[in-house]
Amino acid sequence: MNENLSTRYIQIAGVEQTFSTRKGPFVALRSIDLDVAKGEFVTLIGHSGCGKSTLLNLIAGLTRPTQGTLICANREISGPGPDRGVVFQNHSLLPWLTCYENVYLAVERVFAATESRSQLKARTESALAMVGLTPAAQKRPGEISGGMKQRVGIARALSMEPKVLLMDEPFGALDALTRAKLQDELLQIVATTRSTVVMVTHDVDEAVLLSDRIVMMTNGPKATIVM
Ligand SMILES: Nc1ncnc2c1ncn2[C@@H]1O[C@H](COP(=O)(O)OP(=O)(O)OP(=O)(O)O)[C@@H](O)[C@H]1O
Ligand SMILES: [Mg+2]
Repeated sequence: MNENLSTRYIQIAGVEQTFSTRKGPFVALRSIDLDVAKGEFVTLIGHSGCGKSTLLNLIAGLTRPTQGTLICANREISGPGPDRGVVFQNHSLLPWLTCYENVYLAVERVFAATESRSQLKARTESALAMVGLTPAAQKRPGEISGGMKQRVGIARALSMEPKVLLMDEPFGALDALTRAKLQDELLQIVATTRSTVVMVTHDVDEAVLLSDRIVMMTNGPKATIVM
């Protein structure tokens, strides 16, 4: 095994993110350095606006840093990929597709080349069952609650069996009971798949329960990581 790969699966070095706004450039992240080991569960916590989602988007490859480098599995992150599954803060489902179709689309993208239609269907069904959404499978996002939409998002990300799971407040809109159930499910899934996870949460108890390591980001434009 490559020692370097296993200990530093995600490498973030000197990352800066500046947004151009009407009032001029706005520095959302500055001098961010963070290494995540393979199989590690890291949680980012910090005040609203400190740049957590911005950092997660960079790891997802949805945005490019103004400065610095992001590496995943010894490759520079240059765009989104099925190796990194994302659960967004605002559940981003396709509104014209049913819950089932939203998950199936992701499954198809990753496994269509190697698996039969019935295998793809089975994957979709099991992902929906995992988050307790079998009864709502044929409903569209407009017909279900916010928490249910979030669960579809979780099912969609997990169904792709990504090497890295990026989650932005995945349990934020859920009631306490569902939240606890999904936290347990997530721990089991992660233990089985040995996924590397970077999660954002505002809930310190949740961070302590789930993570191997909690990373605190300080507030404001000079967000830095304290470890
Ligand atoms: N596309 C953008 N253009 C301009 N400013 C942005 C953009 N995206 C984020 N920002 C700003 O960057 C800062 C960090 O935003 P970000 O969404 O990463 O915060 P966050 O830590 O995820 O907050 P929350 O906990 O509320 O979700 C905020 O001040 C935000 O206004
Ligand atoms: Mg955010």
